[in-house]
Amino acid sequence: VNIQIFDTEETLNEAAAVIISGTVQTNPKAVLGLATGSTPIGIYKHLISIYQKGIVSFRHAMTFNLDEYAGLPPGHPESYYTFMRTYFFDHIDIVPGNIHIPKGNAPDLDAECVRYDKLMEAAGSFDLQLLGLGHNGHIGFNEPAHALIQQSHVVALREETRRANARFFASMDEVPKQAVTIGIGSILKAKVVLLVAKGEDKADIVRRALRGPITTDCPASLLQTHPRLVVMLDRAAGRFME
Ligand code: F6R
Repeated sequence: VNIQIFDTEETLNEAAAVIISGTVQTNPKAVLGLATGSTPIGIYKHLISIYQKGIVSFRHAMTFNLDEYAGLPPGHPESYYTFMRTYFFDHIDIVPGNIHIPKGNAPDLDAECVRYDKLMEAAGSFDLQLLGLGHNGHIGFNEPAHALIQQSHVVALREETRRANARFFASMDEVPKQAVTIGIGSILKAKVVLLVAKGEDKADIVRRALRGPITTDCPASLLQTHPRLVVMLDRAAGRFME
């Protein structure tokens, strides 16, 4: 595992953005797996500035987001679709038809999962999958469980996950109870996985994910089996890794 620890958030964000833009420069038709949450916001900011300098174009790239809240229409202010437009897609030259995010308000979410898996399969394995890390070890919304699911599926969000994400909603009641997430199989199929974590509050789970046993109790620990895992941490999150 390639673990990189950065002194500042700025240098971490920049390094992550450089890996992602490099992937698209090498292969303009790259397929990128993307994440939401607070972790990637600064990375997207750097990617936008790399794009604005004319260094990279996303015109031929394709993206697949990890997950979406169940029940939220794409236009909802807290949907991951809105998040991606706000922090990334509205500022680059990606073709809207090449953007893929599960439809959280699809009438039949199981059918939506099948549709999403077919799209991913047709696109081929991702050139790079960007991941944040949940405090309980979730990646995408693959929550700790007795068994993990390979394909896209509907998941009941754990209480701690809803609480962690409540900061974006008016109240805890408004945080969706379910989400659609791609499965662990799709994540592990990516050619490169870039896991990013920042902050003191992630230090323990970073240790469990990277140094602990490989167990479905900590879904991110399965990343230890990935041949090309790159981990980028700030000093606080990487406290136990040095
Ligand atoms: C987001 C996602 C989640 C987050 C994780 C960490 O698309 O799939 O796994 O990456 O919950 O969230 P932040 O970055 O807000 O700490």
